[in-house]
Amino acid sequence: MFDIYTIGAEVLRQKAAPVENFDAELSKTIETMFTTMKFGRGIGLAGPQVGIGQRLFVIQLEGGKPFVFINPEIIGTSQDLSEYEEGCLSIPGTYADLQRSASVQVQAYSERGRPFTMEADGLLARVIQHELDHLDGVLFTDRLPERVRERLLKQYEKRMRA
Ligand code: NI
Repeated sequence: MFDIYTIGAEVLRQKAAPVENFDAELSKTIETMFTTMKFGRGIGLAGPQVGIGQRLFVIQLEGGKPFVFINPEIIGTSQDLSEYEEGCLSIPGTYADLQRSASVQVQAYSERGRPFTMEADGLLARVIQHELDHLDGVLFTDRLPERVRERLLKQYEKRMRA
């Protein structure tokens, strides 16, 4: 299992580098990311969250199938937005409503290096956007209005000190 890095860790703020080797080590990393995500009761986990500065993330919605996205790029987004309560394993216990594109078209590589494109909507589209942000050093709280963000992060810090 990996340790999950929380807000304040530098790796969460860096732009992750493309994955270049689709090898056994990558497979092992992905497997361990799924284990770590499930243990933390998360539905998505990105490389930087476990200290790996590479462009990959895993997603598994409750009762759904596992998805692996490597070197992902969003190639299309819907005009319409949806609002939903979001959280993050890197900011435990912090949740806020956030608007994102209701659906996205994403291009990525599989664990074996095969390219694919996918259209996603609903919760899957949301999680893809959230995880992709992690690869660019962006946390969901960055996307909240400043006042909301400051209040939530103050509460978070208070909880962490307690
Ligand atoms: Ni997150």
